[in-house]
Amino acid sequence: MSQGQSNERIADTIGVHWREEEVIRPPEDFVAQANMADPDIFKRMSEAHFPDCFDEYARLLDWSREWDRTLDDSNPPFFKWFVGGELNASVNCIDRHLEKAAERVAWHFIPESEEEAHEALSYGELSRRVNELASVLREDCGLECGDRVTLYLPMTLELPIAMLACARLGVIHSGVFSGYSGAACAERIVDSQSRVLITMDAYRRGGKLLDHKVKADEAAEKAQAAGCPIERMLVFSRYPGQYNSEAPMKEGRDLDANALVRNRAGATVAPQAMRAEDTLFLMYTSGTTGKPKGAQHSVGGYLAWVAATSKYVLDIKPEDTYWCMADIGWITGHSYIVYGPLALGTTSILYEGAPTTPDAGRPWRIAEQYGVNLFHTSPTAVRALRRADPELPKQFDLKFRAMTTVGEPIEPEAWRWYFEAIGHGRAVITDTWWQTENGGHLISTLPALHAMKPGSAGPALPGIHPVIFDEEGEAIPAGSGKAGNLCIRNPWPGRMLSIWGDDERFVKTYYARYNHDPKSRDWRDWPYLAGDGAVQSEDGFYRILGRIDDVINVAGHRLGTKELESACLTVAGVSEAAVVGVSDEVKGVQPEAFIALVDGAAPEKVVDAVKTSVTERIGPIARLRRVHVVPDLPKTRSGKIMRRILVALAEKRDPGNVATLANPEIVEAIHKQLAS
Ligand code: WT7
Repeated sequence: MSQGQSNERIADTIGVHWREEEVIRPPEDFVAQANMADPDIFKRMSEAHFPDCFDEYARLLDWSREWDRTLDDSNPPFFKWFVGGELNASVNCIDRHLEKAAERVAWHFIPESEEEAHEALSYGELSRRVNELASVLREDCGLECGDRVTLYLPMTLELPIAMLACARLGVIHSGVFSGYSGAACAERIVDSQSRVLITMDAYRRGGKLLDHKVKADEAAEKAQAAGCPIERMLVFSRYPGQYNSEAPMKEGRDLDANALVRNRAGATVAPQAMRAEDTLFLMYTSGTTGKPKGAQHSVGGYLAWVAATSKYVLDIKPEDTYWCMADIGWITGHSYIVYGPLALGTTSILYEGAPTTPDAGRPWRIAEQYGVNLFHTSPTAVRALRRADPELPKQFDLKFRAMTTVGEPIEPEAWRWYFEAIGHGRAVITDTWWQTENGGHLISTLPALHAMKPGSAGPALPGIHPVIFDEEGEAIPAGSGKAGNLCIRNPWPGRMLSIWGDDERFVKTYYARYNHDPKSRDWRDWPYLAGDGAVQSEDGFYRILGRIDDVINVAGHRLGTKELESACLTVAGVSEAAVVGVSDEVKGVQPEAFIALVDGAAPEKVVDAVKTSVTERIGPIARLRRVHVVPDLPKTRSGKIMRRILVALAEKRDPGNVATLANPEIVEAIHKQLAS
């Protein structure tokens, strides 16, 4: 930050320096078969047709009662969609497919260990298992519509089955990623006031059988200490008939879930008719400060949004074999492993383990064996697979028609490798921008209607009307080369209803920034603040520059982290890069890079080339003061690079609690390296 200016007052927008990438047209044969190849959709869903245009998405679902009103916007920013309508999510994901497709496989479950048998679960069997578990939840646990249940389950079939069993009863599920600590789970149990926890004894990850019940016990103890005791803990066995945990079953609290389900064999449970605006689930998301926010998602609007985007963005058809490598414990898994694909009745892969266990060929062996034709992953996974062996995927017979990335901006270099090595230059790529709070995709190409531009997510989806505001709230025009704060002007059905139990924080976090009249009842006065920096090019494509919090301010020039990192990644030998602004009393803030190398790259050469690349591509203002070659970058469990920790280390400050990272040990390693 330059002297005398507070962060608030800096009027400069984020500088944008990168060049426009060449666009790539989707292959003809993709366009010929795509679910959405009608350009008219943008007219149908233009602002003039807001909000009724979204009826088209709601009609993708089966309703037990039609809605009377598309949107109730009488109390902004608390919007209600498809008011008067009633439906059940499990009916839409299961029952409605049974007549024609009971035999179709819903999921191929693939254990991490290659020694173990796979399991193919048909829609008919899924229906049976969901009904039996729903019966257990109602009869043995006394759960009722509106109660909350925390799911602390790994990537096994029990997780989606538990979600759907809750949905059948109208019980609100709150999924906690299995890699999270017991303490993190406890915090979410307490906030959601769950009295029932569903978990598993153990699971496989990274070649090990991990004891999970130990963590579930810790979660229950901590929740109890905070005044929210777990009354019933349902414990599934990863290997039925065995119990693989050091933690004993606690009398009076813990129940053998496999046995309970057996007792309910053949039970059926009538689906609870839910109002469209009722809550389907909570998904906690952590921000920079404060306790995690429970994004509260609706039954009708959410399900309509994920069904429509699965169909038109991911191009899912019932006869496809689709694989999204995310964990169901995150929103990506909820929307694009469970609810969206199931609403469309497709076949998916559910893989328990890590993508590189036992080696980086694992995803391609799975894809080859099942003829996976739709693939979905994150830039972090793309970079990790590239780093492991850039040539490897070419040895496999991969038949992807469409591929997706999500979670972070993807650097054009990594994009091109994904396209060539994994997509064989034939698969279309969608780079989907959205957030836990949003329910589903907001910015992406519609793959048959737009060309692809590496590194740019794409234009807004039909019915979504973004705006980029500068600090003063002036809209920055497309093609001006200036970046600012990405906002969405209009409400959309997939957006969360609120933050669970904290309406005030909901308004403050997402709406206060650009709302000028808190009393206004006009939705136009309530732009949604995403918290990301973005730039829109002349052709309407948005390029995401990373979180506003991560923006680097060099002498009043604001630089987007992703742009600098992309410049690092153009250097051969660099597999991952994080650029952060490091404060120095004399020199102010200066960018420094942390890079990880591909095997065999010569560090000195790479460091020089990285410095040159950044100065040439971005300009002297972005000159890197130092480039640190590190073994790996600190990442969250969902694969996001923790730049804040790197800043603290570079400034010789305490990085704070790092226990929730995917790789906490790397923080100590980098700390030692910087000290030497
Ligand atoms: C943040 C939301 C969306 C589900 C998974 C992450 C970043 C997400 C992209 C993308 C650039 C992206 C943004 C966003 N992000 N997708 N395609 N290009 N950035 O959900 O954990 O709620 O994170 O992820 O910064 O705000 P999340």
